[in-house]
Amino acid sequence: MSTPLSLHVRRLEAGDIDPIVSAFAAAGWPKPRQQYERYLREQAEDRRVVLVAYQGAEFAGYGTLAWEPSYPLFAAERIPEIQDLNVLPRFRRRGIATRLLDEAERLAGGRSPVVGIGFGLYADYGAAQRLYVLRGYVPDGHGISCRDRIVQGGESVVVDDDLALRLRKRLPA
Ligand SMILES: CC(C)(COP(=O)(O)OP(=O)(O)OC[C@H]1O[C@@H](n2cnc3c(N)ncnc32)[C@H](O)[C@@H]1OP(=O)(O)O)[C@@H](O)C(=O)NCCC(=O)NCCS
Repeated sequence: MSTPLSLHVRRLEAGDIDPIVSAFAAAGWPKPRQQYERYLREQAEDRRVVLVAYQGAEFAGYGTLAWEPSYPLFAAERIPEIQDLNVLPRFRRRGIATRLLDEAERLAGGRSPVVGIGFGLYADYGAAQRLYVLRGYVPDGHGISCRDRIVQGGESVVVDDDLALRLRKRLPA
């Protein structure tokens, strides 16, 4: 995997919102502007860090780190959670998610010995499933959850974006 020399990762700023919304719309993957406005507020309130990746002048992807996630089994142990990691299709397999995760884990490690993450269970999440396991994330041992509620054995659920497996990783001291 070769990381492009011009790859730059930093915190979200107000001026990033237009390029982000335009880039996802152009990729046929529309995302609401309000989501990034909320992220910016949450970052200002120290509830979330939002990391953006640019390759040269081009926005390429982002990921966030929530300091107080709603998933109860992370909340109970005050485990920060990496959420909403997305790299635009044409920038994939160049190490951009890896750089975003490196930085999110570094920041998480400043406040917590452990960081959490989650992925969906169907094929759209296949890249994330492989990436997170290869980075040493281990299932949290509570099975799968649906909108943050642990699913019980024998229950019927729809396999959609609300169904997730949470994993955790111990960070270097
Ligand atoms: C998951 C995602 C963020 C990965 O972004 P990326 O920048 O392409 O990832 P990287 O280049 O850092 O990949 C690192 C390693 O992960 C694994 N990996 C990444 N994408 C993969 C894929 N499509 N198939 C198999 N392995 C993959 C590989 O081991 C890869 O290393 P390699 O390229 O040297 O083989 C990106 O595919 C994406 O945005 N997917 C859609 C949204 C999503 O699922 N987000 C995660 C939500 S939980």
